Amino acid sequence: MKDLYTLEDLRHWETATAGEPLPIRLGVFGDPVAHSRSPQMLNAALEACGIPARYCRLHIRPEEFAEAARLLPQAGFIGANVTVPHKIAAMNEADVVDENARKIGAVNTLVVEGERLLGFNTDGPGLMRAIRAEFGVDLRDLRVMVLGAGGGAGRAIAAQCALEGCERLVLVNRTLEKAREVAAELAPYFKGPRVYGPLHRLEAVPWEETKLAAQLTQTDLVINATSCGMKPTDPSVLPESILQANLLVFDTIYTARRTPLVEAAQTVGARAANGLSMLLYQGVLAFEIWFNRTAPVEIMKKALSSA
Ligand code: ATR
Repeated sequence: MKDLYTLEDLRHWETATAGEPLPIRLGVFGDPVAHSRSPQMLNAALEACGIPARYCRLHIRPEEFAEAARLLPQAGFIGANVTVPHKIAAMNEADVVDENARKIGAVNTLVVEGERLLGFNTDGPGLMRAIRAEFGVDLRDLRVMVLGAGGGAGRAIAAQCALEGCERLVLVNRTLEKAREVAAELAPYFKGPRVYGPLHRLEAVPWEETKLAAQLTQTDLVINATSCGMKPTDPSVLPESILQANLLVFDTIYTARRTPLVEAAQTVGARAANGLSMLLYQGVLAFEIWFNRTAPVEIMKKALSSA
């Protein structure tokens, strides 16, 4: 199997994959996609379950996405994962979009059904499962702060928190306007009676240290959905000085076991986790959608950690 396939390969899939011991019938579309660990995780699951199919990486550029998605049925695909920057395009391209994905506003999992494409989103539910696995608590019981709430990942996470009916949701984005937009979209979810004292249940907050520090005293879980921390030289997205020991800190970044934020959080005694478990559970949920059976979570976890 090649490291990366292209649109041209997809146009002639049988020829492009001739000689493969097992048919490649699943994959991840992205740009860039070379770093994706999904093949290791999902191929381990396919093998463990005795499913005669393989999962690959497809490097598909934005202008190629629609054609690539439409080629999936004739190429014999079961489905695909979709990552940056195609999640909105995937929602537009799918013939039927699951309600949860529609509410989140993005699709990361496609299922081929005859000639049709069905769209799902397992990022939000994957985060929910990850929070439960890492911290033993449910989003709905928490006051959550989302950093980078205006970015692609942040919007999906904020929407999932809203769908879960979390106690309080604080949206933070370097460009405040984007956090305000998201707050306006999610406002209908926070009209209910569950009020934490006099505080608003939903707020968009400027990225200013004193304001963030004040909000953190009313927060249980902080989620970093910015790209800050991907490079080892990046600073912690929140300074140690405003973090507290009673916080739960989840960094969606998984390029290091201890990302700069995880390190800062652990230094002050807070419980913290990187984003590997979110990647794991979005994959677990995609597998379960494709095959309608329980995924081998432990095997997938092991494959992901050693990838
Ligand atoms: P996307 O395409 O998902 O928006 P992105 O451009 O990498 O991806 O940005 C993701 C998020 O990280 C955004 O919320 C971005 O903030 P802006 O909307 O203000 O650009 C945020 N982000 C990136 N680097 C950051 C940094 N150093 N500090 C704070 N936020 C940052």
